Amino acid sequence: MTNWADDVTLPRLKIAGYKQGFGGIARYHFDNASLGADPRMRILITGGAGYVGSVLARILVERGDQVRVVDCGFFGLDHVDRRAEVINGNILEPDTAWFTGVEAVVHLAGLSNDPMAAFSPSLNYMLNAGGAAIVAQAAKEAGISRFVFGSTCSVYGIDDSGPLDEDHPTNPPFPYAISKLMAERMLSCLADDRFRPIILRKGTVIGWSPRMRFDLVANTMIKTALTEGSLWRPLIDVEDAANAYVRSIDASPTVSGTFNISGGNYTLHELADVVAGSLKDRGLNVSVHVEPKKDVRSYRVSTTKAERYLNFVARKLIGQTVSEIIENARSWTSADFEQARYYNIRQLEHLVSTGSLGRIGGFNRPKELAEPIHAR
Ligand SMILES: NC(=O)c1ccc[n+]([C@@H]2O[C@H](COP(=O)([O-])OP(=O)(O)OC[C@H]3O[C@@H](n4cnc5c(N)ncnc54)[C@H](O)[C@@H]3O)[C@@H](O)[C@H]2O)c1
Repeated sequence: MTNWADDVTLPRLKIAGYKQGFGGIARYHFDNASLGADPRMRILITGGAGYVGSVLARILVERGDQVRVVDCGFFGLDHVDRRAEVINGNILEPDTAWFTGVEAVVHLAGLSNDPMAAFSPSLNYMLNAGGAAIVAQAAKEAGISRFVFGSTCSVYGIDDSGPLDEDHPTNPPFPYAISKLMAERMLSCLADDRFRPIILRKGTVIGWSPRMRFDLVANTMIKTALTEGSLWRPLIDVEDAANAYVRSIDASPTVSGTFNISGGNYTLHELADVVAGSLKDRGLNVSVHVEPKKDVRSYRVSTTKAERYLNFVARKLIGQTVSEIIENARSWTSADFEQARYYNIRQLEHLVSTGSLGRIGGFNRPKELAEPIHAR
């Protein structure tokens, strides 16, 4: 089989440039005045109200791009940078107007971790595989060449023989990573001279975001570090992760394929040490609670290909990332931390139990598709 992931050196067509304007379909808020008359680029981010997307949206508007976010608002929409256009929409029901004037699409929308996918495998496959296909097809039909997709290093499965490069066989054991691999394969089918997808297999993202998550490893590692210290995990700061998307948007049209994106590979013990050290530096007592919970994911990845073709190198040291989380969260009360929206699975359960999922972003699915299939 041709390894399309290596297809990075073809002579390429130029990216189609649509200049007919961007406004007119804002349904939430859109402060066009602050963007200037001649934006650098016009970029659509699906899932742009999420943890990574809301950082990426800010970085792009700050460098002069015009940003359109399409998001159904699982975790709210208010925190998205006011300079971005925000459309409350569902990727399963795309509107051709979303793509009008757009020069690059970053696709981040979907269920974003294992617990959400396990809660409803059917919703997981619909959104992460089907939704990605629907958005990619629509982008291609709209003549948009650059499509950047947020995949995950967990497509490699349980394999700490690494560092693994992009040619390493994929072997995802769980619905979330399987659905991401399905989306990758779909993109490889759509890829051609006119459609140049870039797939970013990100490690676990950590760091501060306007849409914070406290269900990611940096925030739970103290509970698990002592029991699972030998497990490896590639980690990346959320701003570095956002910058990998920026590099992909800016990459030459000749560049396409799959890239590992990570700042470094850490054992959970190492990460716990950094967190404990940062807390101690601030005079905070660390209480470590060990849960006998098994997390079998363990892998290390190589980022040589992203360095070479995307000119991407993660900049932030893990200690800096951890310090920023602590500084931002210092004024938070215990009640703040407990809000469901900072924990993806709790929020999904809340949306399902209150019947809100059907109202968010115009989800019109049969009710059973939003309900758990497996008891957890
Ligand atoms: N955060 C990580 O550690 C990490 C690591 C690897 C890959 N990824 C992938 O990167 C992407 C972004 O991750 P994140 O942490 O920002 O996730 P997130 O859960 O914070 O954001 C996902 C966003 O998608 C939106 N969304 C969900 N279904 C939608 C639909 N049908 N229509 C429109 N919007 C919808 C949600 O409202 C949410 O704002 C995801 O695809 C995730 O799988 C994340």
